[in-house]
Amino acid sequence: MAFVKVATVSEVPPGKAKQAKVGNKILAIFNVNGTFYAIDDTCPHRGASLAEGELEGHEVTCPWHGAVFDVTSGAHLSPPARSDVACYKVQVVGEEVQVDVG
Ligand code: FES
Repeated sequence: MAFVKVATVSEVPPGKAKQAKVGNKILAIFNVNGTFYAIDDTCPHRGASLAEGELEGHEVTCPWHGAVFDVTSGAHLSPPARSDVACYKVQVVGEEVQVDVG
């Protein structure tokens, strides 16, 4: 699949996130000091939106029960989540943040 637009650069300032839908996937787009990352938005524990979590550096804390994920890889770093989330390739073209969901 090709890269598709999920946000504009100005919609996701550094340290912030945005939820984006691509086809049947719901993604969370993060800006870590000017670099954008995309992971699945749905926490594998009970389904909270990770885009609504607190981003610190490249780690996001789930807003419901505090599981921590690395937004650069989708890896889970602390319970109660027991699995990783998918991570997607991101590119910035002009003002557009684009993701390849494969
Ligand atoms: S829903 Fe994310 S830690 Fe429970």
